[in-house]
Amino acid sequence: MRAKSPEAKLLNPGPRVQHRRRLPPPSAPPLAQIRRRRAGPCRIWPPRPHPTPPQGSRAPARRISRGSRRPPAASKAPGRRRSLRSRRSPGSRLPPDSVRPPPSCRVHEPEVIRDKAAMHAWSRRRRVEGKVVALVPTMGFLHEGHLSLVSAAVAASAGPVAVVVSIYVNPSQFAPTEDLATYPSDFASDLRKLAATGVVAAVFCPPDLYVRGSADRPSAAGVSGGAVSCLEDAGGHAHETWVQVEQLEKGLCGSSRPVFFRGVATVVAKLFNIVEPDVAVFGKKDYQQWCLICRMVRDLDFAIQIVGSEIVREADGLAMSSRNVNLSEEDREKALSISRSLVDARTAALSGSNHSQHIKDQIVQTLAEAGGQVDYVEIVEQERLVPVERIDRPCVICVAAWFGKVRLIDNIEIQSTSSDKYNSVVCLSAES
Ligand code: PAJ
Repeated sequence: MRAKSPEAKLLNPGPRVQHRRRLPPPSAPPLAQIRRRRAGPCRIWPPRPHPTPPQGSRAPARRISRGSRRPPAASKAPGRRRSLRSRRSPGSRLPPDSVRPPPSCRVHEPEVIRDKAAMHAWSRRRRVEGKVVALVPTMGFLHEGHLSLVSAAVAASAGPVAVVVSIYVNPSQFAPTEDLATYPSDFASDLRKLAATGVVAAVFCPPDLYVRGSADRPSAAGVSGGAVSCLEDAGGHAHETWVQVEQLEKGLCGSSRPVFFRGVATVVAKLFNIVEPDVAVFGKKDYQQWCLICRMVRDLDFAIQIVGSEIVREADGLAMSSRNVNLSEEDREKALSISRSLVDARTAALSGSNHSQHIKDQIVQTLAEAGGQVDYVEIVEQERLVPVERIDRPCVICVAAWFGKVRLIDNIEIQSTSSDKYNSVVCLSAES
């Protein structure tokens, strides 16, 4: 395997994989052959000046799981710059070609499933047919970051695959003070985008995933003196079982969103039980969430392969997020300071300035000067998410900041050159 440039390694350390339920049948042909990719948002960011890597070097690459035997593929074209208008209206975007499946996996329209039992039965039928069931959990208002997970789900499944995308705005991960009420949604548009990929077999969109109790019973909020999540507002003889990943949920987003990860872990566990996927894909955009799900899967023996997929950004560096639509034009411009400060931080760390505090101070200053309100800036170890004083091992710099009424998160991984345990990971170009 050819060596990647240090910068490419820093940007793309690759997915981490947990358990695999079943191996694909030995005769199954690999699904993820080379796929064309329309010039679109930058998977590799900042964009490279040259679309074609120099001879003898590998293109900055998305990685697939360790142990994969997929051959390397050709490089992809760099991201195309789009107008602000198109960037800010995800409903108008076409899905990338990268999710175009081989003929054996094409589906015309995703089946829309609203009922838990129906979803469960559907999934079991697919597995009886010999298909790998791959789940992409989302809260909808889909953008190309979400669609890249669909692509990753196909790529990670080495046999015939049935991709399920769940769309459910999970109330239990929102505190009553948070933005559940204004969380954007556009189901018709989501469905169009998923259908256009030609690879999503089912969309699971339950009206509610929780047992709510009844209105005439006393609410949990009333008893405890205050609701902690939007779910508990419903009260009564309602849902009361929670999954908590005790250490990983603390710190970073957990500090300012105390019920968030409990809600995420619980709803993802529920989705895992309902869909029973072989593979589930999460974005590293939500780094802490991804780590926490990996840990939950390990600790609770879910036999599911977890794939972490790289952050997809707009051409100007802003990490794609469903919440970006709520940014004013001015705040969106200011919010570019997040990705800018992360890249500067990584550059500083690479050039030997590895004192975390110094780097964090720089980021805070950049964000504050741009007009952002910093929630946190932290540099943590990649797997355990514990803060480091020096960047001398694989780390991730995580940022959360408010721009106007919108809280944005972003991160950048830094592989320490001294102990790069991901060096052995097989790399593929983003076209594969
Ligand atoms: P949501 O914010 O809709 O994100 C769904 C998935 O898309 C997550 O795994 C997230 O990390 C990934 N994602 C979002 N933006 C991305 C980007 N720019 N690049 C790559 N991946 C991106 O995360 C949630 O929903 C919820 O917490 C959920 C896991 C569905 C549980 O309710």
